[in-house]
Amino acid sequence: MSLFRPSGGLVYHWRALTSGWRWRTFRRDVAQWLEIWTCPTEELILIGPSGGHTLPTSWLRRFEKIEAYDLDPLAGIFFQLRHRHPHLKFHQRDMFWREGRLSLAPIQEILREHPKASLLFCNVLGQVLLERQADEGDWYQFLKDLRQLLHGRSWASYHDMYSQEKGADEIDHLTNGSWLDGLIQLHFDWPLSRRSHHSTGAVSVVAPLGGPPGALKGFTGGAGSGEKESDCTGVVGPGDSP
Ligand SMILES: C[S@@+](CC[C@H](N)C(=O)[O-])C[C@H]1O[C@@H](n2cnc3c(N)ncnc32)[C@H](O)[C@@H]1O
Repeated sequence: MSLFRPSGGLVYHWRALTSGWRWRTFRRDVAQWLEIWTCPTEELILIGPSGGHTLPTSWLRRFEKIEAYDLDPLAGIFFQLRHRHPHLKFHQRDMFWREGRLSLAPIQEILREHPKASLLFCNVLGQVLLERQADEGDWYQFLKDLRQLLHGRSWASYHDMYSQEKGADEIDHLTNGSWLDGLIQLHFDWPLSRRSHHSTGAVSVVAPLGGPPGALKGFTGGAGSGEKESDCTGVVGPGDSP
Protein backbone atom coordinates (compact mmCIF):
# COMPACT_ATOMS: atom_id res chain seq x y z
CA MET A 1 0.00 0.00 0.00
CA SER A 2 1.54 3.31 -1.13
CA LEU A 3 2.33 6.03 1.38
CA PHE A 4 1.35 8.64 -1.24
CA ARG A 5 -2.31 8.42 -2.27
CA PRO A 6 -4.96 10.88 -3.48
CA SER A 7 -7.17 10.54 -0.38
CA GLY A 8 -4.50 10.59 2.32
CA GLY A 9 -1.02 9.35 3.21
CA LEU A 10 2.18 11.22 3.91
CA VAL A 11 1.31 14.45 2.08
CA TYR A 12 -1.93 14.67 4.04
CA HIS A 13 -0.17 14.07 7.38
CA TRP A 14 2.43 16.73 6.52
CA ARG A 15 -0.31 19.25 5.69
CA ALA A 16 -2.18 18.42 8.88
CA LEU A 17 0.91 18.91 11.01
CA THR A 18 1.83 22.24 9.40
CA SER A 19 -1.59 23.85 8.79
CA GLY A 20 -2.63 24.59 12.37
CA TRP A 21 -3.97 28.11 11.97
CA ARG A 22 -5.47 27.41 8.53
CA TRP A 23 -7.52 24.47 9.81
CA ARG A 24 -8.43 26.02 13.17
CA THR A 25 -11.98 27.08 12.24
CA PHE A 26 -12.74 23.79 10.51
CA ARG A 27 -11.53 21.82 13.54
CA ARG A 28 -13.72 23.98 15.78
CA ASP A 29 -16.75 23.46 13.53
CA VAL A 30 -16.26 19.67 13.55
CA ALA A 31 -15.82 19.66 17.35
CA GLN A 32 -19.01 21.70 17.91
CA TRP A 33 -20.96 19.47 15.56
CA LEU A 34 -19.76 16.30 17.32
CA GLU A 35 -20.76 17.79 20.68
CA ILE A 36 -24.42 17.76 19.69
CA TRP A 37 -24.38 14.23 18.27
CA THR A 38 -25.83 12.47 21.32
CA CYS A 39 -24.74 8.93 20.45
CA PRO A 40 -24.02 6.15 22.98
CA THR A 41 -20.43 6.40 24.20
CA GLU A 42 -19.52 2.78 24.94
CA GLU A 43 -17.99 1.97 21.58
CA LEU A 44 -17.12 4.05 18.52
CA ILE A 45 -16.14 2.90 15.05
CA LEU A 46 -14.13 5.38 12.99
CA ILE A 47 -14.06 4.89 9.22
CA GLY A 48 -11.18 6.64 7.41
CA PRO A 49 -9.96 8.76 10.34
CA SER A 50 -6.38 9.07 9.07
CA GLY A 51 -4.36 10.51 11.97
CA GLY A 52 -7.51 12.04 13.46
CA HIS A 53 -6.06 15.43 12.59
CA THR A 54 -9.48 17.12 12.59
CA LEU A 55 -11.00 15.19 15.51
CA PRO A 56 -11.11 16.53 19.09
CA THR A 57 -9.19 14.44 21.65
CA SER A 58 -11.54 15.34 24.51
CA TRP A 59 -14.54 14.08 22.54
CA LEU A 60 -12.80 10.81 21.58
CA ARG A 61 -11.86 10.18 25.22
CA ARG A 62 -15.55 9.91 26.12
CA PHE A 63 -15.68 6.56 24.35
CA GLU A 64 -14.70 3.52 26.35
CA LYS A 65 -13.50 1.71 23.25
CA ILE A 66 -12.62 2.81 19.70
CA GLU A 67 -12.12 0.65 16.60
CA ALA A 68 -10.63 2.57 13.67
CA TYR A 69 -10.28 1.45 10.04
CA ASP A 70 -8.18 3.16 7.38
CA LEU A 71 -6.22 2.16 4.27
CA ASP A 72 -3.21 4.18 5.35
CA PRO A 73 -0.50 2.10 7.11
CA LEU A 74 0.75 5.20 8.98
CA ALA A 75 -2.64 6.46 10.12
CA GLY A 76 -2.67 4.49 13.40
CA ILE A 77 0.73 5.85 14.44
CA PHE A 78 -0.25 9.46 13.79
CA PHE A 79 -3.62 8.91 15.46
CA GLN A 80 -2.09 7.65 18.69
CA LEU A 81 0.61 10.34 18.72
CA ARG A 82 -2.17 12.90 18.60
CA HIS A 83 -4.87 11.35 20.78
CA ARG A 84 -3.28 8.66 23.01
CA HIS A 85 -6.61 6.89 23.50
CA PRO A 86 -6.17 4.09 26.06
CA HIS A 87 -8.57 1.69 24.33
CA LEU A 88 -8.02 2.19 20.60
CA LYS A 89 -7.60 -0.61 18.06
CA PHE A 90 -6.45 0.58 14.66
CA HIS A 91 -6.96 -1.65 11.60
CA GLN A 92 -5.37 -1.10 8.19
CA ARG A 93 -8.29 -2.17 6.01
CA ASP A 94 -10.13 -1.17 2.85
CA MET A 95 -13.69 -0.38 3.89
CA PHE A 96 -15.31 0.29 0.53
CA TRP A 97 -13.77 -1.88 -2.21
CA ARG A 98 -13.64 -5.66 -2.73
CA GLU A 99 -12.14 -7.20 -5.86
CA GLY A 100 -12.12 -3.83 -7.61
CA ARG A 101 -15.81 -3.12 -6.98
CA LEU A 102 -17.70 -1.00 -4.47
CA SER A 103 -18.80 -3.28 -1.64
CA LEU A 104 -20.74 -2.93 1.60
CA ALA A 105 -19.33 -6.23 2.86
CA PRO A 106 -16.51 -4.69 4.97
CA ILE A 107 -18.96 -2.41 6.78
CA GLN A 108 -21.48 -5.24 7.20
CA GLU A 109 -18.74 -7.30 8.83
CA ILE A 110 -17.78 -4.68 11.37
CA LEU A 111 -21.44 -3.94 12.17
CA ARG A 112 -21.86 -7.63 12.92
CA GLU A 113 -18.71 -7.69 15.08
CA HIS A 114 -19.74 -4.54 16.99
CA PRO A 115 -23.54 -4.63 17.30
CA LYS A 116 -23.80 -1.66 19.67
CA ALA A 117 -21.15 0.69 18.30
CA SER A 118 -21.81 4.16 16.92
CA LEU A 119 -20.12 4.93 13.58
CA LEU A 120 -18.35 8.06 12.42
CA PHE A 121 -17.35 8.41 8.75
CA CYS A 122 -14.40 10.75 9.08
CA ASN A 123 -14.31 12.84 5.93
CA VAL A 124 -13.99 9.67 3.90
CA LEU A 125 -17.15 9.33 1.78
CA GLY A 126 -16.02 12.16 -0.50
CA GLN A 127 -12.63 10.44 -0.91
CA VAL A 128 -13.70 6.93 -1.88
CA LEU A 129 -13.83 7.65 -5.63
CA LEU A 130 -10.42 9.36 -5.52
CA GLU A 131 -8.83 5.94 -4.93
CA ARG A 132 -10.73 4.00 -7.64
CA GLN A 133 -13.32 4.72 -10.29
CA ALA A 134 -16.94 3.62 -10.30
CA ASP A 135 -19.99 4.42 -12.34
CA GLU A 136 -21.77 7.48 -10.88
CA GLY A 137 -25.11 5.64 -10.69
CA ASP A 138 -23.49 2.71 -8.85
CA TRP A 139 -21.94 5.14 -6.37
CA TYR A 140 -25.23 6.87 -5.56
CA GLN A 141 -26.92 3.48 -5.15
CA PHE A 142 -24.06 2.45 -2.85
CA LEU A 143 -24.69 5.51 -0.65
CA LYS A 144 -28.43 4.72 -0.47
CA ASP A 145 -27.69 1.10 0.44
CA LEU A 146 -25.20 2.26 3.06
CA ARG A 147 -27.85 4.47 4.66
CA GLN A 148 -30.22 1.52 4.71
CA LEU A 149 -27.55 -0.74 6.21
CA LEU A 150 -27.01 1.78 9.02
CA HIS A 151 -30.68 1.88 9.92
CA GLY A 152 -31.07 1.58 13.69
CA ARG A 153 -27.51 2.72 14.42
CA SER A 154 -26.21 6.00 15.66
CA TRP A 155 -23.97 7.24 12.88
CA ALA A 156 -22.55 10.46 11.52
CA SER A 157 -20.52 11.57 8.55
CA TYR A 158 -18.63 14.65 7.56
CA HIS A 159 -17.55 14.53 3.95
CA ASP A 160 -16.19 16.63 1.13
CA MET A 161 -18.92 17.94 -1.15
CA TYR A 162 -16.86 20.16 -3.47
CA SER A 163 -13.22 21.14 -3.72
CA GLN A 164 -11.21 23.50 -5.84
CA GLU A 165 -7.50 23.92 -6.56
CA LYS A 166 -6.39 27.40 -7.61
CA GLY A 167 -6.74 27.72 -11.38
CA ALA A 168 -8.57 24.40 -11.80
CA ASP A 169 -12.21 23.41 -12.21
CA GLU A 170 -14.31 22.66 -9.13
CA ILE A 171 -14.51 18.94 -8.26
CA ASP A 172 -17.87 17.49 -7.24
CA HIS A 173 -17.21 14.71 -4.68
CA LEU A 174 -20.65 13.19 -5.35
CA THR A 175 -21.80 13.15 -1.73
CA ASN A 176 -25.10 14.95 -2.23
CA GLY A 177 -28.22 13.12 -3.35
CA SER A 178 -31.16 11.15 -2.06
CA TRP A 179 -29.13 9.10 0.45
CA LEU A 180 -29.36 12.25 2.63
CA ASP A 181 -33.16 12.51 2.44
CA GLY A 182 -34.68 13.67 5.73
CA LEU A 183 -31.34 14.66 7.30
CA ILE A 184 -30.20 18.18 8.04
CA GLN A 185 -26.82 18.75 6.45
CA LEU A 186 -24.50 21.38 7.91
CA HIS A 187 -21.83 23.00 5.76
CA PHE A 188 -18.27 23.75 6.87
CA ASP A 189 -15.42 25.36 4.93
CA TRP A 190 -12.08 23.58 4.97
CA PRO A 191 -9.15 25.55 3.54
CA LEU A 192 -6.97 22.49 3.05
CA SER A 193 -3.92 24.40 1.80
CA ARG A 194 -2.88 27.72 0.26
CA ARG A 195 -4.04 26.46 -3.15
CA SER A 196 -6.92 24.15 -2.25
CA HIS A 197 -10.31 24.82 -0.69
CA HIS A 198 -12.92 22.20 0.33
CA SER A 199 -16.62 22.58 1.16
CA THR A 200 -17.75 19.82 3.48
CA GLY A 201 -21.14 18.55 4.63
CA ALA A 202 -21.99 16.97 7.99
CA VAL A 203 -24.98 14.80 8.96
CA SER A 204 -25.77 12.79 12.08
CA VAL A 205 -28.36 10.29 13.25
CA VAL A 206 -29.16 9.03 16.76
CA ALA A 207 -30.54 5.51 17.17
CA PRO A 208 -33.72 5.03 19.23
CA LEU A 209 -33.35 4.44 22.95
CA GLY A 210 -32.79 0.80 23.78
CA GLY A 211 -30.11 0.34 21.16
CA PRO A 212 -30.13 -0.74 17.55
CA PRO A 213 -32.84 -3.21 16.57
CA GLY A 214 -30.32 -5.10 14.40
CA ALA A 215 -29.16 -3.19 11.38
CA LEU A 216 -28.40 -6.31 9.39
CA LYS A 217 -31.92 -7.65 9.83
CA GLY A 218 -33.30 -4.41 8.39
CA PHE A 219 -30.87 -4.36 5.47
CA THR A 220 -32.52 -5.44 2.25
CA GLY A 221 -29.54 -4.81 -0.02
CA GLY A 222 -31.65 -2.48 -2.12
CA ALA A 223 -32.99 1.03 -1.87
CA GLY A 224 -35.51 1.63 0.90
CA SER A 225 -37.24 -0.91 3.13
CA GLY A 226 -40.03 1.49 4.05
CA GLU A 227 -38.52 1.96 7.51
CA LYS A 228 -38.04 5.53 8.64
CA GLU A 229 -34.88 6.89 10.26
CA SER A 230 -35.50 6.89 13.98
CA ASP A 231 -34.11 10.28 14.86
CA CYS A 232 -31.92 12.88 13.31
CA THR A 233 -29.86 15.53 15.00
CA GLY A 234 -28.82 18.77 13.46
CA VAL A 235 -27.85 22.24 14.51
CA VAL A 236 -27.09 25.33 12.63
CA GLY A 237 -23.36 25.76 12.17
CA PRO A 238 -21.53 29.07 12.35
CA GLY A 239 -22.91 31.32 9.64
CA ASP A 240 -25.11 28.54 8.29
CA SER A 241 -28.81 27.94 7.95
CA PRO A 242 -30.50 24.57 7.46
C1 LIG B 1 -9.30 13.25 4.22
S1 LIG B 1 -8.65 11.84 5.04
C2 LIG B 1 -9.54 11.85 6.59
C3 LIG B 1 -9.07 12.92 7.49
C4 LIG B 1 -9.48 12.72 8.93
N1 LIG B 1 -10.90 12.94 9.10
C5 LIG B 1 -8.72 13.63 9.88
O1 LIG B 1 -9.31 14.07 10.88
O2 LIG B 1 -7.54 13.85 9.67
C6 LIG B 1 -9.45 10.49 4.24
C7 LIG B 1 -8.98 9.14 4.77
O3 LIG B 1 -9.80 8.14 4.17
C8 LIG B 1 -8.99 7.00 3.99
N2 LIG B 1 -9.61 6.14 2.96
C9 LIG B 1 -9.86 6.44 1.66
N3 LIG B 1 -10.42 5.38 1.03
C10 LIG B 1 -10.55 4.40 1.97
C11 LIG B 1 -11.03 3.06 1.93
N4 LIG B 1 -11.48 2.53 0.79
N5 LIG B 1 -11.01 2.33 3.06
C12 LIG B 1 -10.52 2.86 4.23
N6 LIG B 1 -10.03 4.13 4.32
C13 LIG B 1 -10.03 4.89 3.21
C14 LIG B 1 -7.65 7.57 3.54
O4 LIG B 1 -6.60 6.63 3.73
C15 LIG B 1 -7.53 8.80 4.41
O5 LIG B 1 -6.80 8.55 5.57
